[in-house]
Amino acid sequence: MPGTCVIGLQWGDEAKGKLVDLLTSQFDVVVRYQGGANAGHTVVIGENVYKLHHIPSGILNPNVRNLVTPGVVLNPPTILGEIDSLQQRGVEVGDNLMISDRVHVVFPWHLAEDRAMNAERVSGESIGTTLRGIGPCYRDKVGRNFAIRLGDMYRDDFRERIHEIVAAKKRILSNLNGEVESLDPEVIFAEFAAYAERLRPHVADTTAFLLDAVEANQKVLYEGAQGALLDIDHGTFPFVTSSNSSGVGVSAGSGIPPRWINRVIGVVKAYSTRVGGGPFPTELDDDMGQRIRDLGNEYGTTTGRPRRCGWFDAVAVRYTARLSGVDALSVMMLDVLSQLPEVRICVAYDLDGERIDHFPSHADDLRRAKPIYETIPGWEVDVTGVRELADLPAGARRYLDRVSELVGRPVEIVSVGPDRAQTMFATPD
Ligand code: GDP
Ligand code: IMO
Ligand code: MG
Repeated sequence: MPGTCVIGLQWGDEAKGKLVDLLTSQFDVVVRYQGGANAGHTVVIGENVYKLHHIPSGILNPNVRNLVTPGVVLNPPTILGEIDSLQQRGVEVGDNLMISDRVHVVFPWHLAEDRAMNAERVSGESIGTTLRGIGPCYRDKVGRNFAIRLGDMYRDDFRERIHEIVAAKKRILSNLNGEVESLDPEVIFAEFAAYAERLRPHVADTTAFLLDAVEANQKVLYEGAQGALLDIDHGTFPFVTSSNSSGVGVSAGSGIPPRWINRVIGVVKAYSTRVGGGPFPTELDDDMGQRIRDLGNEYGTTTGRPRRCGWFDAVAVRYTARLSGVDALSVMMLDVLSQLPEVRICVAYDLDGERIDHFPSHADDLRRAKPIYETIPGWEVDVTGVRELADLPAGARRYLDRVSELVGRPVEIVSVGPDRAQTMFATPD
């Protein structure tokens, strides 16, 4: 299996980190190829909980190379803090972490712009970003004039570039009522030059490395960040992130032609969550929503915000599974649903009195879409100790079969708790 991708099919936090960590032992290379410090991927190994924002979730396996490739936007203090904290906990981070010199760097002006823009409303609602400067950094990448890539930080004109950009950003930010006082080019230069020195041993041409790896038949695992419904082109625009977080982004972000990618695992929660603004048809704004939040401990890994919770939306996931070229589903957090008296699946929407089973492209239409549910009796059995799919309660198996049928993909992996051991794999017939 030369190239396998793990892609979130909802609005992020589907437990991609757990799955990537689990699969890592079968691979030579693990790649983070889009997003940045907005991601928060949790890996639980026994008593140890690791929250990774930038570093691929393969880092906990000492035999794997971990790559951060050109499609990522890099926040130097975040990744350096992560390296320090992993090393303090005895995890090796050295040659096993390579960062592309092509990644774009998030600077303090991006954080200021994110704060200023997030105060603005779109169709009456704030996007509710993670405030990690993601949108502004990607905007500068596409705009080109004000962009600085990691490789630029080692060049003679780095200081001059910071001076030029800060002057321009102060003009832009004052028009946005943003904070400009703290943007001192000399202070920023000194700080980021020091980051560049510390990052130097990890900086590499990951594109050349990856092409050599795939041509030598090495196995590569691509770790998606966010989820397909947050994809800049295909998600619930404008309530999305600024990168291609569905399966279509893997090739562009990593620099690997699609021919080297031959398996896509779509990760879903057994229900739905969303952090930040935007339409969410199956959202439960009631006691049941709170119950799911409590049972699933649904609070953001990056920002600590309570996650909005709701039932599984098969219309949305069928759309993202097709879009992402998913071969198999990995259904996570089945233990959470296993405590409820009944569970629901959204099988279609009612849009202005008409039953539809496609995912609307406009956020306003999605906002009006009312879920049409199928109700399934709950099984109310603690499944956290179950280790074989055949040992799951009949109700839980019926639920998984129905999810698979509605989404149109087989369920091959099921998770019933955060730990590595709490995972079941379907064995081929
Ligand atoms: P990611 O961003 O997709 O990697 O997901 P997050 O790490 O942000 O959120 C997933 C959370 O669910 C983490 O706290 C995991 O430890 C936890 N988790 C993973 N799988 C399961 C599961 O099957 N059941 C429960 N209860 N928690 C899980
Ligand atoms: P992982 O990788 C959940 C959401 C934000 C906001 C929108 C835009 O852990 O699944 P941004 O800061 O990217 O400009 O915010 O996207 N968002 C996420 N939600 N999980 C994530 O990452 C997310 N990354 C961004 O809440 O709604
Ligand atoms: Mg997360």
